[in-house]
Amino acid sequence: MNKTVILKLGGSVITEKENAGVIDHTRLTTIAETIASHHDYPLILVHGAGSCGHPEAERFGIQGGVGERNAIGVGETHRAVAGLNAVVVSILRGAGLDAIGIHPLSGSLAENGRLISFETGHLAKMAEIGLVPVLHGDVVMDRAKGACIVSGDQLVLRIAEGVGPCRVGLATDVPGVLSCGNVVRTITRSTLNGINLGNSQKTDVTGGMRGKVEELLTLADAGIISSIFHIDRLAAFLAGAEHGGTTIIGADT
Ligand code: IPE
Repeated sequence: MNKTVILKLGGSVITEKENAGVIDHTRLTTIAETIASHHDYPLILVHGAGSCGHPEAERFGIQGGVGERNAIGVGETHRAVAGLNAVVVSILRGAGLDAIGIHPLSGSLAENGRLISFETGHLAKMAEIGLVPVLHGDVVMDRAKGACIVSGDQLVLRIAEGVGPCRVGLATDVPGVLSCGNVVRTITRSTLNGINLGNSQKTDVTGGMRGKVEELLTLADAGIISSIFHIDRLAAFLAGAEHGGTTIIGADT
């Protein structure tokens, strides 16, 4: 059985969402140490942008389409999130992990916001020999819109479809998917509409919690179970233990 785990660190977990461009080094160091102490299976990491990318994407109106008028925003947005990626990789390496940064902008193509060309074979091979590829939500060239934002959640989905992991986890700054203040323990496509997911107040160009759940339901349709949990429960998730968060499953899982 494929033992690969795919883990996404939400942007709000590793950056200060209220302070543009500020990275939470202390939290990242704790995360890196936790991952390093559980790294006994192939692991692929993805992280979001938080305040290192969302503000730039919004400022340059990337999601509305990119042409000559706002082409400068491609480089500005990528620079912000690639800078965050360099810090994440460096902290992971400091904790003893053989982490390697991978930029989606460099080798993928989207159409209307969805990846149509995205290689995963190299990621599986890296993970298999003990390397830890670290991807990130990014601005990606788009055949229809010029460029678009591809969220870390969409990347998790595409990597999972290509690699066939045994577990997928999204670590966030909330305990799971919340409805009326309570964690929704299980979500299927048929229960999603009955759940009041609310809206993120902060700048998030890729859809907040609803966007996350929708990406994960597509995975569930393919038989891959995923979890959304609080970053403080990372060790439990990595150990395959109860993490107290939300599990997203397919109708027949
Ligand atoms: C967004 O990635 C990428 C950019 C804005 C460049 P995500 O949508 O995965 O980021 P978070 O986790 O919501 O911050």
